[in-house]
Amino acid sequence: MTQLPNDQHTPKASDDGSLTVYSRKFDQHFHSPKGAIMESRHVFFEEPGLLIDLQKRSHLKIAETGFGTGLNLLLLAEYIENLNCSLKIDYYAVEGYPISAELADKLNYHHHLDHASALPRLSDVFADLKPGINKKQITDCITLTLFIGTFEEWQLPDKSIDYFFHDPFSIEVNPDGWTVELFSKLMKAAEYHATLTTYSAAVKARAAMASAGWQVASAPGALSKREMTIASPDAFQLKGFKLVNNAKLRQRYDEEFSRQA
Ligand SMILES: C[S@@+](CC[C@H](N)C(=O)[O-])C[C@H]1O[C@@H](n2cnc3c(N)ncnc32)[C@H](O)[C@@H]1O
Repeated sequence: MTQLPNDQHTPKASDDGSLTVYSRKFDQHFHSPKGAIMESRHVFFEEPGLLIDLQKRSHLKIAETGFGTGLNLLLLAEYIENLNCSLKIDYYAVEGYPISAELADKLNYHHHLDHASALPRLSDVFADLKPGINKKQITDCITLTLFIGTFEEWQLPDKSIDYFFHDPFSIEVNPDGWTVELFSKLMKAAEYHATLTTYSAAVKARAAMASAGWQVASAPGALSKREMTIASPDAFQLKGFKLVNNAKLRQRYDEEFSRQA
């Protein structure tokens, strides 16, 4: 595990009042400065239809690329409390540069969420992490398997993940989060009906997804962002979204982007 010095992660208020974190290493915020919680709800829960599946399914597997603050895990716990359902969730995540438990304790997400007292404390999630696999029972419903290591080292079970929260920093500063190799690994782990969502609408990122075999579509972005990306092994899952020309994306990757990689 790469232990960053304490001053590498700084909390910062976003416009919806929820905090995000600024990473000095990547010179970028973990979330949209226009609203950390609002962006996460839109990109990972509302657009891919996860809120509907939480009511219908008895077991789901979710994988998050870039665990960051743990906000998405917390939102998931809140949605499940709201639904009062008996769903089981296996939540897999990877993080190379974890924030400290002290910083996690300062994040104000509980003030913005329902059922705050029933939600896990982020400082417990980040306490005593070791390199490699960390398994934690987060609530009665959610089991977290957090891999502390790189995207490249991360291993996932084959053909089993239903939802991918793809959340590295942008492709300009975090190119290893957007490679064909990484998207091929996620594809190998995906159920046929799986969806992957990300805030990014970068053509180069979409081209890497298409080259790894994902069907790629454009979805409305969060807050004032025009577009984000939704992808699936199965084009049928993308019904209602604007499919992009996957063949053209693959060609562009071969002719242009692969030479830059
Ligand atoms: C945009 S932030 C994730 C935000 C997070 N999903 C949240 O809600 O707080 C991207 C995360 O990916 C991690 N990261 C970037 N490159 C990585 C790599 N190669 N391997 C593992 N983690 C990486 C960063 O440390 C950071 O926590």
